[in-house]
Amino acid sequence: MFAVTAARFDADNPISAIELGEHGDPTVPDGWTTVTVRAASLNHHDVWSLRGVGLSADRLPMILGCDAAGLDEDGNEVVVHAVIGDPTVAGGDETLDPGRSLLSERYDGTFAERLAVPRRNLVPKPAALSFEEAACLPTAYLTAFRMLFDRAPIGPGSTVLVQGAGGGVATALILLGRAAGYRMWATSRSEHALRLGADQVFETGARLPERVDAVMETVGEATWAHSLRALKPGGAVVICGATSGSAPPADLSRMFFLQLSVIGSTMGSRDELGRLLTFCEQSGVRPLIDRAMPLTQAPDGFAAMIKGDLFGKVVFTL
Ligand SMILES: NC(=O)c1ccc[n+]([C@@H]2O[C@H](COP(=O)([O-])OP(=O)(O)OC[C@H]3O[C@@H](n4cnc5c(N)ncnc54)[C@H](OP(=O)(O)O)[C@@H]3O)[C@@H](O)[C@H]2O)c1
Repeated sequence: MFAVTAARFDADNPISAIELGEHGDPTVPDGWTTVTVRAASLNHHDVWSLRGVGLSADRLPMILGCDAAGLDEDGNEVVVHAVIGDPTVAGGDETLDPGRSLLSERYDGTFAERLAVPRRNLVPKPAALSFEEAACLPTAYLTAFRMLFDRAPIGPGSTVLVQGAGGGVATALILLGRAAGYRMWATSRSEHALRLGADQVFETGARLPERVDAVMETVGEATWAHSLRALKPGGAVVICGATSGSAPPADLSRMFFLQLSVIGSTMGSRDELGRLLTFCEQSGVRPLIDRAMPLTQAPDGFAAMIKGDLFGKVVFTL
């Protein structure tokens, strides 16, 4: 079958580490099943993998990709939950299993004609969502869903600042938060965030008209100081990523004096993915797709992500 793999690591030129071509069919352990992939979406995670972050050399070559929608062995339309973990280890939440991994870290990922996953990782795809739309949801949108609706101590009507609006998780945060009745503010190096329905968009690092209840962070070092300054006393930063670096000054005095919280968040459970699909179906929210292209052109999608030349998701079709 055709697949897109990480053949080696290259921190400086990750695209040179991509290999396209024939790959053996997936092996299917007991309790697992196969999915015929119809669409898969790109995440920054795939670029990190090519740079050698989060993937160990002894696992190469590894088929890339966390996200997919396709057909199960009986021809049903399904979305694939990307977290491979044991939900019984930690109260039903597979993301808290210390042995969990994401597709493409330990087991082959979704950038292939077929993939093998545990049977329980399949969630029915609502007919209202296309394969391309559904394939955007399992990583970026699920992460945003948990950050906003589970991890952040806020509710509808709260004011939320999203840093770096152009990213996959950030666009998801704006779209989902807006639909749920939050007042969504964003920072961005471009104007596009207004198109998503953000109430106000500010230049990265700009002074805000008032302090916010919560900040959603994916950028890291480049925006961390601003995130802490943006919070009301008692506010919270929810963080799921650090694209620009992960070791900014912590500003501990501000944290304890203003009683701020820093809350980590990672992916979401299979149950949350099911609820996210229902949320999209009911609210009319659809993931923003920057471009869709055949999987055979995957390096062009990676190049656009590395250049930062995107607003929304890159989807590969089969
Ligand atoms: N923990 C999890 O479960 C999880 C899940 C998904 C993603 N992640 C992580 O979350 C991060 C975001 O991933 P993503 O795929 O959504 O987006 P991304 O492609 O990494 O981009 C994030 C956005 O950050 C802004 N940005 C990047 N560098 C910047 C800089 N130096 N200064 C200011 N702004 C900057 C840009 O926004 P503007 O262009 O609008 O300025 C960019 O679009 C990644 O590190 C990823 O690994 C974690």
